[in-house]
Amino acid sequence: MLEVSFAKPALPEAGALALLVGEDEPPSGLRAAADDATGGAIGRALAAANFKAKKNETVTILAPGAGLSRVVVVGLGKRAEAGGRATEEAAGTAAAALAQEPAAVLDPGPVGPAQAAEAALGATLRAWRFDRYRTKEKPEDKPKFARLTVAHDEPAKARAAWGSLKAVAEGVFFTREVVTEPPNVLTPAAFAERCQGLARLGLEVEVLGPKEMKKLGFGAFLGVAQGSANEPRLVVLQWHGATGGEEKAAKGKGKAKADASKPLAFIGKGITFDTGGVSLKPAQGMEDMKWDMAGAGAVAGLMAALAGRKAKVDAVGLLGLAENMPSGTAQRPGDVVTTASGQTVEVLNTDAEGRLVLADVLWYCQDRFDPRVMIDLATLTGAIVISLGHEHAGLFSNDEELAQKLIACGQATGELLWRMPLAEAYDKMLKSDIADMKNIGGRPGGAITAAQFLQRFVNGKAWAHLDIAGTAWTTKDKPCVPKGATAFGVRLLDRLVAEYYERG
Ligand code: BES
Ligand code: MN
Ligand code: ZN
Repeated sequence: MLEVSFAKPALPEAGALALLVGEDEPPSGLRAAADDATGGAIGRALAAANFKAKKNETVTILAPGAGLSRVVVVGLGKRAEAGGRATEEAAGTAAAALAQEPAAVLDPGPVGPAQAAEAALGATLRAWRFDRYRTKEKPEDKPKFARLTVAHDEPAKARAAWGSLKAVAEGVFFTREVVTEPPNVLTPAAFAERCQGLARLGLEVEVLGPKEMKKLGFGAFLGVAQGSANEPRLVVLQWHGATGGEEKAAKGKGKAKADASKPLAFIGKGITFDTGGVSLKPAQGMEDMKWDMAGAGAVAGLMAALAGRKAKVDAVGLLGLAENMPSGTAQRPGDVVTTASGQTVEVLNTDAEGRLVLADVLWYCQDRFDPRVMIDLATLTGAIVISLGHEHAGLFSNDEELAQKLIACGQATGELLWRMPLAEAYDKMLKSDIADMKNIGGRPGGAITAAQFLQRFVNGKAWAHLDIAGTAWTTKDKPCVPKGATAFGVRLLDRLVAEYYERG
């Protein structure tokens, strides 16, 4: 992770400088100092480049003098309209332009300490890289950006704001790592083992194997897992951050308060590789299915973030981990399985496996934890990618208020959601001739019928389902997300907790 510090504005003796600049704003002190020290080189370069300070517009000036190796200037659009998101993105864009510099000073411009910390977050998120399996990269080709100093008049305040954001970045990186790992390395057991490492943050970690799942009656989950030589796991992560105080107070004050003492629950689809099973997927692009565990990855990263920043909330994270393989022991199209809820499912397509795993985990979650809300994340359907592309994740919810909160947090973090419908008519499409339901509803409305399927296992609890099949992975660099695993959902749900569910 990028090493971040905060200091009063001062030109670096040597090395690089980055400036975040709003449209029509006077040069900051550091910008003026850099211009003075270089005989006006920065201003001349910006004029020559016809720099307008549009959002993420970037000019790089090499060796302008005064010992500076590089000055990167990034636009923000209009400063008055540029909130924390624009600052983050501009800082992320700057970090990409600084890849060959070991260290840089970044001047976010006239912002408060919170936005200075957000600049550090943006740069940190963009500078992340996964190179565990590169053994032959030449040193000159490797990114070098390792140290960032954010210039601010109140460095202590900015540093204090950075504490929580750094924990969120660490959560995002946990997610990006597990999502990026190849499927031969990240089996369900290996994923569970990494989760056990999160105990160091104060999370309570439980791992259940096939024996325990069988006792719990997880017929749908185990049906998916039975074709693989790699055993399934259910990981339960608990964070007790609300302490006892509120619960004790709640007992005296009756029902409304008592609800606030129930945990929030997050559930993730964790298919470490999805071949489709006997309903085998085509070869083209099948490698993408290593990230079919991105929902579980996001839940683990979110729980790490909450624990890392000591969020004042009680939360549980459940990860349904399995591999969907075709083999002599694999389930067949036509099999009927009995879920933990007692409802039976005719498995007509073994590639609609995520909903089968989630059916048992959702049921178990509400039964064991009686949560305040349940939110699941799943790379559930190709149909959501057809509907929304890669710009929004699909949001399905039986709770108006929860849906609105989620949409607002999506806008604040850039992890955008678009509400999709749930309705009786779609639910009917799941009717089976032999069992309580079938696991597919046909091609029309495929993301919706998948959500309807899940809804049958939430037992009326306030619930939201995020179909992240289109947003969990990006093939293009974004300002704060290098191409690859996005960790979509970690920042969104961390924000949801901070805005609406933390006390104090
Ligand atoms: N993991 C896939 C969905 C997916 C597709 C995720 C593309 C990411 C990118 C899921 O398990 C799946 O195979 N869904 C099927 C369901 C169908 C058989 C009803 C699909 O979307 O085709
Ligand atoms: Mn599938
Ligand atoms: Zn899948």
